[in-house]
Amino acid sequence: MQRIAIGMVVLLFAVLVVYAFGQQDMQVVENYYFPNPQRPSAVFEHDAHNEKAELWDCMICHHVYDEQGIKSDWESSEDQACADCHGLADQGPIPGLRRAFHENCKGCHLTMQQGPITCAECHVKP
Ligand code: HEC
Ligand code: HEC
Ligand code: HEC
Ligand code: HEC
Repeated sequence: MQRIAIGMVVLLFAVLVVYAFGQQDMQVVENYYFPNPQRPSAVFEHDAHNEKAELWDCMICHHVYDEQGIKSDWESSEDQACADCHGLADQGPIPGLRRAFHENCKGCHLTMQQGPITCAECHVKP
């Protein structure tokens, strides 16, 4: 009985270690939602970026809007890709995917006067 218990603890620990180290922090915003990408994927070290920029509120980027176009102040869409809601083309008030990224990323950098705003600073050749 005790052996089984120890075995289970060891197994659980192994699973946790594999999980923790297997999860790589995101380094770029993948461009695979674009049929013919023209630029290398934009650099974006998700966790490090958000720590440096002190963005603790996930909803700043992972937003949810209701039918009236009002942004929820409690619901986050972190479990969804931007492309799940943003098509390639603009759709009414919903900006197309490329514009959505540029408005989000560049928009904040311009407002805060921090972070890259030129093409090559974000679309860095690997
Ligand atoms: C603040 C960072 C940032 C800047 C500055 C920026 N982009 Fe982007 N861009 C992105 C992100 C993020 C995406 C979404 C997918 C990706 O990583 O390519 C994107 C997507 C694109 C796409 C669609 C995907 C593709 O490769 O075809 C194009 C084209 C593009 N950008 C061109 C430009 C050009 C031209 C400039 C300069 C005028 C520019 N970008 C500046 C972050 C940036
Ligand atoms: C500055 C904008 C920004 C902030 C703030 C942000 N994220 Fe993200 N996150 C992104 C972008 C961009 C992606 C890539 C989305 C895509 O490919 O469609 C992403 C992807 C993700 C993913 C899935 C991809 C993966 O492999 O990791 C998760 C999970 C996630 N974010 C969680 C969070 C959580 C939790 C927070 C708050 C603690 C947060 N994000 C804050 C921009 C942000
Ligand atoms: C659950 C669906 C959904 C997801 C996921 C989503 N969006 Fe949106 N987004 C919307 C809707 C709907 C609007 C239009 C809101 C309105 O009616 O004005 C919008 C508007 C925007 C706008 C313009 C208004 C604003 O808030 O600045 C930008 C920029 C934007 N999204 C970027 C992004 C990015 C970047 C991601 C991924 C990190 C993302 N969105 C994920 C639904 C979504
Ligand atoms: C709400 C504001 C905000 C949003 C949204 C945002 N950034 Fe930033 N970003 C910053 C700030 C602030 C810095 C400067 C941080 C520092 O160096 O202290 C920064 C810095 C950066 C840098 C420089 C290196 C680094 O990681 O610090 C890159 C690259 C970058 N951002 C890419 C992106 C991309 C790509 C997106 C969109 C997916 C994005 N950012 C969205 C605020 C933002």
